[in-house]
Amino acid sequence: MQISFVASAAITSGDTDGERGALVVAAAESPALLPAAVRLDKASGGALTRAQKYSRFTGKSGQFLEVLAPSGIKASRLLLVGLGKPESLDEKGLETLGAQIVGRLLGAGEAAASLEIELPKASKVKKAEAAAHLAFGARLKSYAFDKYRTRNLDEYERKLKTLRIVTPDVVAAKKAHAGLAAVADGIFLARDLVNEPPNILYPAEFARRAKTRLSKLGVKIDILGEAEMKKQGFGALLGVGQGSARESQLVVMQWSGGKKSAKPIALVGKGVCFDSGGLSIKTGSGMQGMKGDMAGAAAVTGTMLALAARKARVNAVGVIGLVENMPDGGAFRPDDVLTSLSGQTIEVLNTDAEGRLVLADALTYTQRRFQPKAVIDLATLTGAIVAALGFEHAGVFSNNDDLVRHIQAAGRATGERVWQLPLDPFYDKMIRSKIADMKNIGGANSGSITAAQFLLRFIEKGTQWAHLDIAGVAWQDGEQKPTIPSWGTGWGVRLLNRLVKEHYES
Ligand code: BES
Ligand code: MN
Ligand code: ZN
Repeated sequence: MQISFVASAAITSGDTDGERGALVVAAAESPALLPAAVRLDKASGGALTRAQKYSRFTGKSGQFLEVLAPSGIKASRLLLVGLGKPESLDEKGLETLGAQIVGRLLGAGEAAASLEIELPKASKVKKAEAAAHLAFGARLKSYAFDKYRTRNLDEYERKLKTLRIVTPDVVAAKKAHAGLAAVADGIFLARDLVNEPPNILYPAEFARRAKTRLSKLGVKIDILGEAEMKKQGFGALLGVGQGSARESQLVVMQWSGGKKSAKPIALVGKGVCFDSGGLSIKTGSGMQGMKGDMAGAAAVTGTMLALAARKARVNAVGVIGLVENMPDGGAFRPDDVLTSLSGQTIEVLNTDAEGRLVLADALTYTQRRFQPKAVIDLATLTGAIVAALGFEHAGVFSNNDDLVRHIQAAGRATGERVWQLPLDPFYDKMIRSKIADMKNIGGANSGSITAAQFLLRFIEKGTQWAHLDIAGVAWQDGEQKPTIPSWGTGWGVRLLNRLVKEHYES
């Protein structure tokens, strides 16, 4: 879908060079047609006001009124959207609106549309920003993952190819949109990676795709294979990948957009390309969806793409541990003791608690190599976080209250919300081992917290760290949220991009 910004209000007067398409205009609550809607209503001999009489349309947010093949005007349809109280629309509200409009047009099978959504002077959002966020929401809704369909393609085809957004200042809108378009690219990459089936996207393939997509944007990529990791002592990460026919990988992505001497912000991702549970094998239904157990790594990769694509003035590193957790004769066992890169030993009591093992070594490597200003890890780490917070919030754990506040604020601003859960020595006791430095599971309760406590043991003195448990938000079944399609959500890219912009860019 091609999105452009145009200045001409001639579009919503119906004069579109004979090119048919939908014309989308707005009304505030009561209903009160906004000026573009009034113009269209006149040009069509009162089609909108007439149609409104026979509908429930009152201009409330989320409402639509549609007139097909209006007479007196060159358009396939008029779409009137309700804004509620337009002055209260914020950036997120505009994104939702853009998504709802595109959802509607996709359902209708439209090929082209022009939007003129006017906001009042008292609006919270500047006009150019408003147009950009409308476009961003529209773009996010246009995502599809249909590459493995071979039949009934017409049914799935996204016919909407052209979207024009009318805005008084085209140059400013384009500029505001450029950064968001980069974020959308990052989100789409993350969604694609999560949606790919695990027979296609195994660790080496993930690494290749990260390299292909990011190196052309100026991101430096190092890929460590098993031989190199073995030499360096990645005993925890390698233990997890040991039962797989696929080679484990560590991908290091460096974006240097900041001052030479400035320490980087580091993002670390869990990249379990498939989690069977290993010898502590999952049930049939519990294993479904475990191709998405690399969503943390996908979010890190997507964020690195977004930062590079918008040339963010920041030094950022992304480190992802890519493995496949499988049972075979060579697999690691419950009762095994692994020696991590940090030197600490881990008694494995459940091979399905593998994400923390991968992250442990990735965290150690990241801190020792880069001495980052802060480390944020993302992981689909525990089923317990889904039980606690459901699908609306990711869990956040941290050793630094300012970092938590900044993450919470970025979450609120972008709609990727987080909820803080506690760390405490009490919970740390639950992972004491009888024979090694720690064990990889706690007890029956507080599973998300004991997982976070485990990670904390790999955080070195002085490192600011936050852990996001994204098991409940990384994918969704069905389209429950307007800007998010069914399956991989790309959760985290928007939040991290915002956090970097607000707190780490120079
Ligand atoms: N990848 C899973 C966590 C998960 C579960 C993500 C459901 C998304 C949906 C993780 O590796 C895992 O298996 N965790 C176990 C830990 C337990 C064995 C201590 C869990 O949550 O049951
Ligand atoms: Mn697991
Ligand atoms: Zn897992």
